Amino acid sequence: MMYRHLPVMLPEVLSVLSPRPGQIYIDCTLGGAGYTLALAAAVGERGKVVSIDADSLAIANAQNIIKEKKIENIVLVHDNFKNLAAISDTYLDSPADGIVFDLGLSSAQLDDESRGFSFQGDRPLDMAFGSGADIETAALLNRAPLSELARIFRELGEEPQAYRLAKEIVAARKAKAFTSTKPLVDIILKVSPPRLRAGKIHPATRAFQALRLATNDEFGSLRSALKAVPAVLKVGGRLALVSFHSGEDRIVKQWLKEEGADCLCPPRAPVCVCGHKASFRSLLKKPLLPGAEEVEQNPRARSAKLRAAEKIR
Ligand SMILES: C[S@@+](CC[C@H](N)C(=O)[O-])C[C@H]1O[C@@H](n2cnc3c(N)ncnc32)[C@H](O)[C@@H]1O
Repeated sequence: MMYRHLPVMLPEVLSVLSPRPGQIYIDCTLGGAGYTLALAAAVGERGKVVSIDADSLAIANAQNIIKEKKIENIVLVHDNFKNLAAISDTYLDSPADGIVFDLGLSSAQLDDESRGFSFQGDRPLDMAFGSGADIETAALLNRAPLSELARIFRELGEEPQAYRLAKEIVAARKAKAFTSTKPLVDIILKVSPPRLRAGKIHPATRAFQALRLATNDEFGSLRSALKAVPAVLKVGGRLALVSFHSGEDRIVKQWLKEEGADCLCPPRAPVCVCGHKASFRSLLKKPLLPGAEEVEQNPRARSAKLRAAEKIR
């Protein structure tokens, strides 16, 4: 079955990457293949797009599209992008002209009733992108200490009721272990203040996002992949990154700051002893946000932020 995922900020991403015929790109987050197909069309038959996804659903969907459209310049890699360095060694003979990340989850994953990314209905409590997830979501909810659960909801979900929610979960699991999403949603609704329950954003959004981020160690994977980027990209090559979470954006911003700095010595050091030289320059003064029209058509885009940089040495 093929599914439809509206790619977020595609024209802006293409504009900063500016792909040309014959070039090589790595799409670290294949998803619904929106970016991958656009890049493959731009680089043409002499170019190549290596597209990674940890989720077999995304890989199978893209395989169908590639077969149906007889596309020959896309290589699909079922892996976690934290292994970017090894993936590039395996699938590329030379450094890439561009790398793109579009973090988070796809519409197909949200709609997948065999997993619990969505708070609609009552689905299995599984938020893993792939079989190599760090921890099972149900195990996390049933076994993590109260303080750890509260930290996850607070730090990864910015959930205002983090401690109360964790406390209710710990009390509920003593009576019955969590196996599906509905009992969790019920507890979230119980602890949510009425103003949040009446709002446009479902009160479970933050807690579900936190559990998904923890299940897949998404911040850890992003940090590992960013570490590999300088070696995988050629000089003049470009990086574009779309994030949906302030924690992810902070990681990217910090990475760009360090890679763009000529010295990483403490500010009060009288002379530079680190010898660090800037290897990237930001292509955007501020992160780009989606326009109102895109958000209207695709509410998933509402929290997107695009950052981009060019490798200069
Ligand atoms: C927002 S979707 C990408 C959508 C895509 N840009 C498009 O245009 O259709 C994110 C995808 O990244 C994948 N993903 C997230 N984290 C990953 C990781 N660490 N390694 C590999 N794939 C990952 C998810 O499985 C999901 O399919």
